Amino acid sequence: MLIELQWEIPVPDDLPELERTLDRVAEACFRTEGISGAGFSVRIVDDEAIRRLNREMRNVDAATDVLSFPTVSFPAEKTARDCPKRLRREYDPYLRCVNLGDCVINLNRARRQAEEYGHSLTRELSYLAAHSAFHLMGYDHIDEKERSAMREMEERALESIGITRDSDGISHEQLFALACEAMQNSYSPYSHFKVGACILTEDGRTFKGCNFENASYGATICAERCAAGCAIAAGARRFRTIAIVGSTAVAWPCGICRQVLREFADLDMPVIVGAYGKGFVVKTLGELLPESLSPEDLGVDTQA
Ligand code: THU
Repeated sequence: MLIELQWEIPVPDDLPELERTLDRVAEACFRTEGISGAGFSVRIVDDEAIRRLNREMRNVDAATDVLSFPTVSFPAEKTARDCPKRLRREYDPYLRCVNLGDCVINLNRARRQAEEYGHSLTRELSYLAAHSAFHLMGYDHIDEKERSAMREMEERALESIGITRDSDGISHEQLFALACEAMQNSYSPYSHFKVGACILTEDGRTFKGCNFENASYGATICAERCAAGCAIAAGARRFRTIAIVGSTAVAWPCGICRQVLREFADLDMPVIVGAYGKGFVVKTLGELLPESLSPEDLGVDTQA
């Protein structure tokens, strides 16, 4: 678990899901290592602060991207999974977990690296937190063998929660193709109009949905709300893009779906809409639902 996310700089407004994402990253790292009941804290700082820390703690006068400060030490060549007794001894009844230490991330550097690699800031921060989590569990990268073992664990952990190298570099074409895949599972014996949808969430995961109809027609659920339900159930709260496809005509989202999407998306969210085998157009949610009522209008923060 993530024990605490501490902001030592002003909180930016482009990282609304960070705490939830880092919590998932922490859990994925522990699961990949094969331990449970552990946690660590993440502190977000800037270039200047990490440089100071690096100088004071490691005698290195440079602004790095991430620093790890373990509170539990493991014997050489061993990692957390090899030391269950050690972990039991370190259990903190107040925190209800073993506090493995602190991960300090430099947001300035993370932004630059995300740009360089061409992926999202969330993915970069997830990678840095995962790297740190494995350090806190006794991994290191002094030689090449250690480095690749650590790297493999990081990739496996992130992949297990859908944060892959290219998950956030997904194109409109790819998202539309995923919607087409989802459409194949449509249950539509009444209208015979199959609809598929795929939502890309802020943290780079994709969730598919299809329409499923009912003998009591009004109980039908549209593909968009099916996909939205899957995303919400998996802990996502902000949507970045949605693709929707209809089997025989363009599947313009119905009014209810537009309003449901508005709950978890800004008005500039691209909505990719098309018909199977006939391509798609891209609109924004604001074009489909102008003058909309949003959670903010009622003072609600969808992250909470
Ligand atoms: N449908 C959707 O799945 N999404 C929409 O936004 C429009 C309508 C489905 C519901 C029903 O199963 C069929 O299309 C005909 O209305």
